[in-house]
Amino acid sequence: MCVVGAGYVGSLTAITMAAQCPAVHFTVCDINQALVSKWQKAVLPFYEPQLGEYFEKATAQGNLSYTEQVEAAISKADVVFICVNTPPSKPKPFEKESLGLKTDMTAFFSVVRSIGKASANLS
Ligand SMILES: NC(=O)c1ccc[n+]([C@@H]2O[C@H](COP(=O)([O-])OP(=O)(O)OC[C@H]3O[C@@H](n4cnc5c(N)ncnc54)[C@H](O)[C@@H]3O)[C@@H](O)[C@H]2O)c1
Repeated sequence: MCVVGAGYVGSLTAITMAAQCPAVHFTVCDINQALVSKWQKAVLPFYEPQLGEYFEKATAQGNLSYTEQVEAAISKADVVFICVNTPPSKPKPFEKESLGLKTDMTAFFSVVRSIGKASANLS
């Protein structure tokens, strides 16, 4: 399994599933190297109840890893969870009334393109 995005949603998803599914490897990838480095050093960047416990369990099982090599992680996965940020988009001058109603899907579509590339290389 590959989880793209090592933030709140991606990490919690990967860590809880990895702790419960020792036979499956979960790779969490993110373009934010500083964030990846924290997870690799077991410095949890935020608090959630029981997160440390699940993280330690998955780490001890050896089925959870973090990387900034996004395309490589995607290309090795059978299943990809996309958990990247989707902030409100900045409206263009003629779209003032839509402030806060549109979503910036740039990060999401970047990951979709990476999945497309990886899929195209499958034999
Ligand atoms: N946090 C919440 O409580 C919550 C609740 C409901 C829904 N969501 C949704 O879940 C999604 C993720 O939210 P979050 O809070 O985890 O965001 P987040 O900002 O904590 O984490 C997103 C991560 O994605 C990474 N990222 C961005 N582009 C990337 C790319 N191309 N490749 C790899 N990594 C990339 C960022 O570096 C960041 O670390 C968003 O769509 C958000 O709206 C979040």
